[in-house]
Amino acid sequence: MDATNNSEDIYETPYAEIDSFFDSAPPLRDGTNISSKLKDFIEMHSSSSVSGSGGVNRVVCVTSGGTTVPLERRCVRYIDNFSSGYRGAASTEYFLKAGYSVIFLYRRGTCQPFCRSLPDDPLLECFEFTDESNIQVHQSHFEAVKRALTGHDAAVAGGFLLKLPFTTIFEYLQILQLIAISMRSLGPSAMFYLAAAASDFYVPWKSMTEHKIQSRSGPLDMRLVQVPKMLSLLRKEWSPMAFCVSFKLETDKEILLEKADMALRKYKMHAVVANELLTRKEEVVVVTSTGNITVHRDKTQPDADVECPLIHLLVERHSAYIKDSDF
Ligand code: PMT
Repeated sequence: MDATNNSEDIYETPYAEIDSFFDSAPPLRDGTNISSKLKDFIEMHSSSSVSGSGGVNRVVCVTSGGTTVPLERRCVRYIDNFSSGYRGAASTEYFLKAGYSVIFLYRRGTCQPFCRSLPDDPLLECFEFTDESNIQVHQSHFEAVKRALTGHDAAVAGGFLLKLPFTTIFEYLQILQLIAISMRSLGPSAMFYLAAAASDFYVPWKSMTEHKIQSRSGPLDMRLVQVPKMLSLLRKEWSPMAFCVSFKLETDKEILLEKADMALRKYKMHAVVANELLTRKEEVVVVTSTGNITVHRDKTQPDADVECPLIHLLVERHSAYIKDSDF
């Protein structure tokens, strides 16, 4: 990136910090393969060959799960960010249902689309030996397994779902950048739904110790550097026409809406989904420049998700945005 051509300050995140983050990141393993998968996926949806409807398909990038910050290059210890990945996995299913194609950027080992109703250890709990040559699904898990297999197969085989895993904050932001740049050509039909819990502080790769930190040296004294917010860059440079939804998580209800509103204005988001840790599965507040909308889970249905009405609302807002951009 050329720091000299543009103003030093893009929505208050200096280029130098962003450059320094990417410069200090270890090279992305599998970067060529990821770029090639993205190219094929976007090409398919740019020409609408999947739906055959003509025009450009709607594509959403859903980010999900928490990023880690390694403390050693040969990593034994790391700092983690909380997120089970449920929000991202559930939302992906509702976006697919609404006709979107989804790039699911997820933390390895977190909740996956169509697998939310499976038990913790699906392989061991869902299946049983009936005889030496047969394995069967337990009757009690049959519907959940069927739903997982059919839903997932239809989405992946149909070309509607591309899954890309990350673990560290370095991988997350490097892949997010690749995705955003490749989605630029979709214009306003692209959406970002940033539910991942991204680390706020990291140890720059250059100053990171190679080997496991030794405990005999006494208390650990380590300086973490702030991860620059990439939302500004995403909006301004990577994918400027895309509809962008970010999340704000707080444990203190008193400051939640104020912080969400600040993020909306500072990063020029189209919506910020504000959620409180303890009630995040029951209700969220969608903060927009025209007002706040509280979205509840349908409590009359035991299995209802808050993501169902949330995605419905965001799809409506995205439709209006596409219409407004169509001049
Ligand atoms: O996965 P679940 O258990 O279902 O929980 C879902 C959730 C609570 C994790 C989710 O709903 C949520 O709120 N995710 C965002 C939590 C968060 O980390 O918020 P934040 O205040 O740190 O970040 C706000 C936004 O800035 C996020 O959209 C993030 O993608 C973005 N960000 C954060 C840090 C950073 N350096 N750069 C960023 O762009």
